[in-house]
This record gives sequence, structure tokens and C-alpha cells, in this order.
Amino acid sequence: MAKHVTIFFFFVALTSCYIASFASDPMPLQDFCVADTTSTVIVNGLACKDPSLVKAEDFFFCGLSMPGNTTNSFGSKVTPVFVNQLPGLNTLGISMARIDYAPWGINPPHTHPRATEILTVIEGSLQVGFVTSNPDNRLFTKVLQKGDVFVFPIGLIHFQRNVGNTNAVAIAGLSSQAPGVITIGNAVFGSNPLIDNDVLAKAFQIDKSIVDQIQSKF
Ligand SMILES: *[C@@H]1O[C@H](CO)[C@@H](O)[C@H](O)[C@H]1NC(C)=O
Repeated sequence: MAKHVTIFFFFVALTSCYIASFASDPMPLQDFCVADTTSTVIVNGLACKDPSLVKAEDFFFCGLSMPGNTTNSFGSKVTPVFVNQLPGLNTLGISMARIDYAPWGINPPHTHPRATEILTVIEGSLQVGFVTSNPDNRLFTKVLQKGDVFVFPIGLIHFQRNVGNTNAVAIAGLSSQAPGVITIGNAVFGSNPLIDNDVLAKAFQIDKSIVDQIQSKF
């Protein structure tokens, strides 16, 4: 019984992810709608701050000159500049991030349910790639040098790896004020509560004990 319930929720999760992959941020109906972070109004996005109270600071973010701390198991750190960091992005359908990579660090396979991502390397060299939908699951991959640009289409699973012995830095632009991120490993093996190991053992054609071992890492 529990197994069926888990499978059901797995499909619901997959379906909603699929639908969200085709969404994009709605067009604004005014010059700007700076996020009012104190509002309790529930809307798609965030409620607008009174325009007469809006200041230049609402369109400003400071800090992308600072390297992210890459001392973690992946050896990478994303510094987001999304609507939560920059309230003026609300309703504008755009955002950005800085990504730092330790030597041979990775930004693990993940997807943005609401955004296409365009990425440029500003320091070091990165291998990047994305995989297309079923049934082909084609991998498109390339090694990027400083100044090179690569695009990850909305919803597709992608990754980056620093293929050098020095730190690497990339800047990404994203087509949503809140792109969302689903890290595949965390979502599949580190969900809360966990997906039954029986489901994952069959899905990945591996022993349940291996599933338990992977789940213990998340
Ligand atoms: C970076 O993160 C590690 C692990 O959390 C921590 O031990 C270290 O102090 C951090 N370094 C800086 C400069 O914040």
C-alpha cells in the first residue's frame, strides 16, 4: 500500500515538474512592481510595494565581487541574485547568479523548473552539459574557456565541472525572477520523507542496500 502511495506521489511530482517546465514569468502590466516583502497578500510572485516608496536601492544588489565559499562536498557555490535578493526583479522575468568552483569542483546535475539559463565563464575553464528529454536523453556537452557562453534550455537537467587546477568563476543569467532549482541527487535520494528504497532500487536497477547507502549521504 505504502509503495503505491509513494509511486503515486512520484508521478504527481514528475507531472507538476513537467508542466512547470513550460511556464515562464508573466509580462509586467506596469513599469515595475518592486516586491513588498512585508505583504501577506498571496499572489503569483510577490505583491507590489507602493511605487511612491520605491528607491534606487530596490533595484540594486551588492556583493557579486565576493567569491562564494566552495568548501563543501561538491566544491562549488552559487550566489543567487533572484527576487529574494533584489526585490526590483519582481515580475521582470529575469535574474542572475555567480557560481564559484574549486579545482575539479562540480555544480551537480539539476534543473530550473521556471528558467532557461545562459552562462559565461569569467575565470578558469568548465565542462558543461545538459541532457534532453526521453526517449533520446542526448547529452550535449562542451568545455568552455573564459568568455565562452553556453545555454541550458528551460527544464532540462544540466551540470558544470571545473576542469582545471585553478578556481573557476561563471556568471549565469536566468529567464525568471525565481528560477527554482531541483538538484537531482537531493530530490531523488534525499526527499523528505524518503522515497521507499524499493522504488529507487527498481528505478535504478540496483540493490536496496545501495539505495540505503546513497540515501544516507543526503
Ligand atoms: C567555508 O565553509 C567551511 C565549511 O562550512 C567553513 O569551515 C569555513 O570556515 C568557510 N570559510 C569561510 C572563509 O567562510
